[in-house]
Amino acid sequence: MTYETLIVETVGRVGVIRLNRPKALNALNSTLAEELRAAFADFDRNEEIGCVVITGTERAFAAGADIKEMAPKSFIDTFTNNYMANWDSPARSRKPTIAAVAGFALGGGCELAMQCDLIIAADNAKFGQPEITLGIVPGLGGTQRLTRALGKAKAMDLVLTGRMMDAEEAERCGLVSRVVPLAELMDVAMKAAETIASMSLPAVMTAKELVQRAHELPLAEGLRFERRAFHALFGTDGQREGMQAFLEKRKPQFNQP
Ligand code: HXC
Repeated sequence: MTYETLIVETVGRVGVIRLNRPKALNALNSTLAEELRAAFADFDRNEEIGCVVITGTERAFAAGADIKEMAPKSFIDTFTNNYMANWDSPARSRKPTIAAVAGFALGGGCELAMQCDLIIAADNAKFGQPEITLGIVPGLGGTQRLTRALGKAKAMDLVLTGRMMDAEEAERCGLVSRVVPLAELMDVAMKAAETIASMSLPAVMTAKELVQRAHELPLAEGLRFERRAFHALFGTDGQREGMQAFLEKRKPQFNQP
């Protein structure tokens, strides 16, 4: 499939999606959101893929929703068509997703990164929710995911002032998993993705789902759900291979066709 706003490729068991509207700093428009949906759905269906990396350019991961597309919309347009309701492809992906973020990750761009399971940031990354400066509020989970990830103090600061924070601050307050020099960003992100993709796929998908549920469930429910999932993995080839390999002092070979 050819895309207008994305470059999509497969590297071994890793799916790579590069946002490709560089002149607009990868601003997210409806075409890009539809194409993201298609690309993530393809990778989700493909058993040969164990992890997805999403990235942008060195200057911008994504500078937010496309303000040119948004500006003329009325309440009725946005409400009737449920504007942006399906801009949640990374959050829906059952495979682990890594956002490799360089440059601006603002508004919808920050929210897209936060929908991913790991954020690996280049040292030039800048995160922010500047919607308030446009007379609106975040609409893709910014107020909710930011608050859960960083707590009220930082979330209020970012959402109410619209200021940007750099990669170092983002790591300090728990928004990003790792900060690396810009030149190493894709190498580090791809290595992490390859490591994840080399694990038993059912275990990886289950692990992702369990950590996600930690945000949604009361502790007792989360612990019960974890125990059930833990038991269920004893029905997989991955559990047999992983433990047998340990006992035989060799590396496990998961995901053999
Ligand atoms: C449309 C955008 C854009 C955006 C940048 N561009 N951000 N176009 N929508 N969100 C375009 C500019 O118009 C310009 O095109 C080109 O990209 C380069 O941008 P400059 O402003 O010239 O670059 P610079 O001076 O380096 O400033 C970079 C920037 C600034 C600080 C990132 O562009 C900026 O503030 N952008 C808007 C950020 C923002 O408010 N994002 C939140 C959007 S609301 P031309 O053709 O003029 O050269 C949102 C809602 C989320 O995301 C709700 C859920 C999705």
